[in-house]
Amino acid sequence: MSKKTKKTFSIAIDGPSGAGKSTVAKALAEKLGFIHVDTGAMYRSVGLYVYRKGVLPDDREKVIPFLTEIDIDTKYENGAQRIYLNGEDVSEAIRQNEISSYASKVSAIPEVRAFLLDLQRKTAERYDVIMDGRDIGTVILPNADLKIFQHASAEARAKRRYDELIAKGQDVSLEEITEQMIKRDYDDSHRANAPCVPADDAVIIDNSDMTIEQNVDHIAALVEKRRGKQKKTPYEKAKKLLSGLFGFLYRLKIEGAENIPKQGGYMVCSNHIALFDPVMLAIAFPHQLHFMVKTEAMNSAFGKMLSSFGCFGVKRGTADKAALRTAIGFLNNGECLGVFPQGTRRPAVDPKETEPKTGIAMIAYRTGCDIVPVFIKTKKRKLRMFSKTTVVIGEPIKNEELNIESGTAHEYKNASGMVFSDICALEGDMQ
Ligand code: DC
Repeated sequence: MSKKTKKTFSIAIDGPSGAGKSTVAKALAEKLGFIHVDTGAMYRSVGLYVYRKGVLPDDREKVIPFLTEIDIDTKYENGAQRIYLNGEDVSEAIRQNEISSYASKVSAIPEVRAFLLDLQRKTAERYDVIMDGRDIGTVILPNADLKIFQHASAEARAKRRYDELIAKGQDVSLEEITEQMIKRDYDDSHRANAPCVPADDAVIIDNSDMTIEQNVDHIAALVEKRRGKQKKTPYEKAKKLLSGLFGFLYRLKIEGAENIPKQGGYMVCSNHIALFDPVMLAIAFPHQLHFMVKTEAMNSAFGKMLSSFGCFGVKRGTADKAALRTAIGFLNNGECLGVFPQGTRRPAVDPKETEPKTGIAMIAYRTGCDIVPVFIKTKKRKLRMFSKTTVVIGEPIKNEELNIESGTAHEYKNASGMVFSDICALEGDMQ
């Protein structure tokens, strides 16, 4: 199996403070199912650390050694970024007004920028991102698929920031905020290192008189245009074609789509009733799934269609190490895996009586991925044309909940059993 490099879509939004970048990026991320990366929050976290240490943010000699003590981590809850400074969730603490000027001052130090560059680029390699900041289109992601430079008049921006701080109960005046903003704009756009300027190929948006909704729709339309120009992968083409066809032939419905994680790197485990199950799951999930299916199916008349759906063969009844390595590779690359823990199709058999294969637990242990349980529900557990088929998506099972500590056969058995009973529970009342 050739190693596939994932092609992600990246949107860079740059602009001065108060230009609504984060608000718009957050809403847009939700709309498009992307990850929002707020790079300002990373600079703010460094600023907060320096502030807490009682050191002046422009004291370069003192700030630089702190970088070896700082660990910044981002986690995503429903696509929204939470930021952790040495394990502490500082998402709220970094928004205090005094931290703004600390962030601006530390961001002018080249070593601080270099420190954060890697973290920002790695995130964009793994996920479809909307990254907002000052130098995203010019320095961090010079090959971003879409670059936006968003700005608004100083008055409009100061008023927005003032309203935001007042709503949070902070005691500030509009004059003070306007003054600080003008000073910060000047510093951010005149510093020698990565100044806040539009990239040559950025689309400039002045949103002084736009509502957030108009702003989001405007960028979403640009994304659509750019993506339309990109060539569709065989998976996307096959998915488009078959979603219409299967929707009609098998009366396909999706339940629980809100349970789908916003970002990739998860495993979907489903019951298995028919050869077309991978197609049903591929239609239901927005991220591309790679399926482990038995080699016999790959060699059947439908092999070509299954392979365009990201299926790869696993030899039945053997510990197929190559297939396992492929599966682990996909997950470690932030991609998604679809597995049928029953191992083979069991249309008429009660799934509760089936012993699931333990490979899913081993893969979860080796990758740290979460598992999304799914039940493909049909009348009398048989796939029939013109009879309703529902893909029921359950809440993801967190990796920790699997309770696998040392990877023993016993732990794998328990964990797979737990996943499988979650899958079966989704069937609800049988039709
Ligand atoms: O967007 P914000 O106000 O949260 O950013 C805080 C400060 O961080 C801002 O004054 C400039 C700096 N910054 C930067 O220099 N480069 C970025 N990519 C993001 C923010």
